[in-house]
Formats: sequence, structure tokens, C-alpha cells
Amino acid sequence: MTHILLTGASRGIGAAALAALSALPDVAVVGQATVARDDALLAADFADPDAVDRLWAQALDRLDGRVDVLVNNAGVFEANPIDADDEAWRDGWARTMQVNLTAAAQLSRHAVRHWQQREQGGRLVNVASRAAYRGDSPAHWHYAAAKAGMVAMTKTIARGYARDGILAFTICPGFTMTGMADDYLASRGGDKLLADIPLGRVAQPEEVATMIRFLAFDAPASMTGAVLDINGASYVR
Ligand SMILES: NC(=O)c1ccc[n+]([C@@H]2O[C@H](COP(=O)([O-])OP(=O)(O)OC[C@H]3O[C@@H](n4cnc5c(N)ncnc54)[C@H](OP(=O)(O)O)[C@@H]3O)[C@@H](O)[C@H]2O)c1
Repeated sequence: MTHILLTGASRGIGAAALAALSALPDVAVVGQATVARDDALLAADFADPDAVDRLWAQALDRLDGRVDVLVNNAGVFEANPIDADDEAWRDGWARTMQVNLTAAAQLSRHAVRHWQQREQGGRLVNVASRAAYRGDSPAHWHYAAAKAGMVAMTKTIARGYARDGILAFTICPGFTMTGMADDYLASRGGDKLLADIPLGRVAQPEEVATMIRFLAFDAPASMTGAVLDINGASYVR
């Protein structure tokens, strides 16, 4: 039985990943959202660092003391205009850093220590963004910086703990048709944005879920440290 903790499991990419992972035999998945809408989800608002640490303990409790795979997928995409007043801008910066980067770091740290202690390794899958490499809109410095931080952190974990059997991967989606992307597409003129995507459409959450499932189970160990793009060739590195 493979035990998985998946954050941001209530909607979008996370909900698609929850469905894909739960459909596999011999898998137990605990999901997280800010509000626990059903028994499959644990509640934790990542704006509160203590809630993140509590989530790890609760997940371990639910999963009989063993997590084999951690998927850090939860994230926010909140505008932080540069003409906001100074305190509001600093607060906006800090909130996105806490939710999108620090919370993932906290959970990754718990997972690495857990995997070291049990001496069986584990797999870490972090959902970053194309913005990590390409940058984002003028109101999203913080989002791009947090996602770039996540890429660097995941590579560091991959290099630091490969000998312990700990494998770490990053996924960088471009626009993905979730609530978040709907808002974004609408705010950027809808279909005009699609002109930048050679594939002619944004990604579907199920496509990202397929990558999460692959990295959680099948990706060969030698792939550790890899960053995988899924963006319809809108940003080819
Ligand atoms: N969609 C895109 O175009 C796109 C592109 C690149 C990267 N990504 C990344 O992919 C991941 C998933 O994105 P998505 O579009 O599927 O997101 P989404 O549909 O907006 O769902 C976000 C998920 O994160 C949870 N969440 C939101 N705020 C949180 C907080 N303060 N603390 C803890 N959890 C919180 C939500 O829980 P609730 O339902 O309880 O709010 C939900 O489960 C994110 O890391 C995002 O940055 C998305």
C-alpha cells in the first residue's frame, strides 16, 4: 500500500490528481484544502505556518504513521499591484511566499526527515509553474519568485538526499483550465492569450494529474531532480 499526502486536493489540478491517484489499487491518499468538505480532506490554511505543521501530523495519523509520497500542489495566484500602499504590498508578498513556498518547504522538510528516519526513501512531487522560468505579469512578482524558489528547493532536495532513496521532482504547468486559469484568461482577454500557445489550448487538469501519477509511482530513480514542463510549447526551454 502506497500512502500519499496531496495538498490542494479540493479543486483544479489537485482534484484531478486526487481522482487519478485514488483510482489506483493499493493506494491511500489524504488530501488537503483550506476547508475540509468531506472525509477525504484535511483542513489547513497555509497562511498559518502552525497549521502546516499540524497538517503533517494529522496526515501521518490518518495514514498509520507512514507517508510514501508527498505532492505539494496547493497554491494561490493573487494580484499584488506595485501601486498598492507599502504595507499592503509587503503583506501580499509575504502571504504568497508563505502559502506557495514556505508551506511546501515545511511539508518537504517533514517528509525528508520522515523518510530518513524510516530508511526507505520516498517521493516528493512539487507543482511549481512556468512562471518560475518565464516570469509572470507585473502584479505577480511574488508568484513567479515563489515558484522559482520551489524549483530551486526541489533540486536541492534531489541532490541532497538521493543517496537516502529520496526522489524529488518539479512540474511546471503553463495555463491550466482550473478556476484559477479561468480568472486569469478572463483578465487577459480570453482567447487572445491562446495565440501564445502553439498547441492552441490550455492544459487540462487531468493532463497534469497524469504527470503527478507518473512521478509518484513510475518515474525512474535516475530522473530525480528533473523539472517537467506542461505548457503546450508556450515556453520551450
Ligand atoms: N491553473 C493554472 O493555470 C496553473 C498554472 C501554473 C501553475 N499552477 C499551480 O498548480 C497548483 C494548483 O493550481 P490550480 O489552478 O489547480 O488551483 P485552484 O484550482 O485554485 O485550487 C487551489 C487549491 O489550493 C488550495 N488552497 C488555496 N489557498 C490555500 C491556502 N491559503 N492554504 C492551503 N491551501 C490553499 C485550495 O483549497 P480550497 O478549495 O479550500 O480553497 C485548492 O485545493 C498551484 O500551485 C498553482 O500555482 C496552476
